[in-house]
Amino acid sequence: MGSSLAFQRICILMLLLVWITKVRGQTKFFNVMKYGAVPDGKTDNSKAFLNAWNEACEWNGASSILVPTGIFKMEPVLFKGPCNGGGSFDGQGPSAWPFNNCNKTSNCNHLPVSIRFDFITNSWVHHITSMDSKNFHMHLLGCKNMKLSNIRISTPGDSPNTDGIHIGRSSDIQIFDSTIATGDDCISMSHGSKNINITKVHCGPGHGISIGSLGKLPNEEPVLGITTRNCTFSGTSNGAASRVQISDVKFINIRGTSSSKVAVNLQCSSSVPCEKIELMDINLAYKGSDGPVDSSCSHVSGVSYSKQMPPSCI
Ligand SMILES: *[C@@H]1O[C@H](CO)[C@@H](O)[C@H](O)[C@H]1NC(C)=O
Ligand SMILES: *[C@@H]1O[C@H](CO)[C@@H](O)[C@H](O)[C@H]1NC(C)=O
Ligand SMILES: *[C@@H]1O[C@H](CO)[C@@H](O)[C@H](O)[C@H]1NC(C)=O
Repeated sequence: MGSSLAFQRICILMLLLVWITKVRGQTKFFNVMKYGAVPDGKTDNSKAFLNAWNEACEWNGASSILVPTGIFKMEPVLFKGPCNGGGSFDGQGPSAWPFNNCNKTSNCNHLPVSIRFDFITNSWVHHITSMDSKNFHMHLLGCKNMKLSNIRISTPGDSPNTDGIHIGRSSDIQIFDSTIATGDDCISMSHGSKNINITKVHCGPGHGISIGSLGKLPNEEPVLGITTRNCTFSGTSNGAASRVQISDVKFINIRGTSSSKVAVNLQCSSSVPCEKIELMDINLAYKGSDGPVDSSCSHVSGVSYSKQMPPSCI
């Protein structure tokens, strides 16, 4: 049941993706009502939505699926690609950011995430732009074997809690050829993140690529096999902190500038130290007057080799 619910969610999401596709150009709209959809909350609209999807997908040019206001009940349905992809989400964050009071109270307003992928397997999401999310831009939960590429994320550097891509309880994920500018972590990974490869991602502004927000729940799964390769950072800080096991994390060929003196910050707990951490070809600059650039490690074991700027603390 969980997976069928999730399926419905991705279905709705996919619709949204198409709905917002290329809205600026000459767009052909495919209104689900024309395909017999009934917004009474009872009729199964799977067939109508699927027919609209198929025609929009086959349309030679910019197309959008139009879903009027209403409650459309749907059984799980497979919206199959490939078709005219791409599109952008505008989360209209500036209207909501002033209401982010999570720093002031633990009983805070939870603003919505722009794009959620829950329990998705074997998927490739590409050429999506997300701007000004109210909260995280993208959230992956329980996903397996997923690729994310050519993702463009932008929010101002001072926007609150706007993580670019947050990953939790997911495995075999590749993120590549993407640009993330945001107010919080560009990519953050929490417990249960396994075999994640991040390649050719430009991050900045933002807090960097982080493993964190761990140790809040009982029985958290470890974080294993994270490889960050050929990424560039501008004006970012970088960190990892935890009460759960972190091991086999590689940072390879990482370049850019840090907004804080401590450009490499690996803070692990004494009860479960981080293991098998590898740093190779790190070149991070810091321009502040309290320089030079530095690194800080606690309870970390691993290796570092090739260029190390700041000098490695492992
Ligand atoms: C909350 O406070 C922390 C540290 O005190 C800060 O790093 C973070 O940016 C703040 N977040 C918001 C939403 O103001
Ligand atoms: C990540 O890269 C390593 C090799 O560096 C490979 O063994 C692993 O399968 C890759 N994982 C994914 C999810 O692509
Ligand atoms: C990373 O960059 C190096 C040198 O710029 C290149 O040789 C290598 O193929 C790149 N690796 C990936 C996975 O893009």
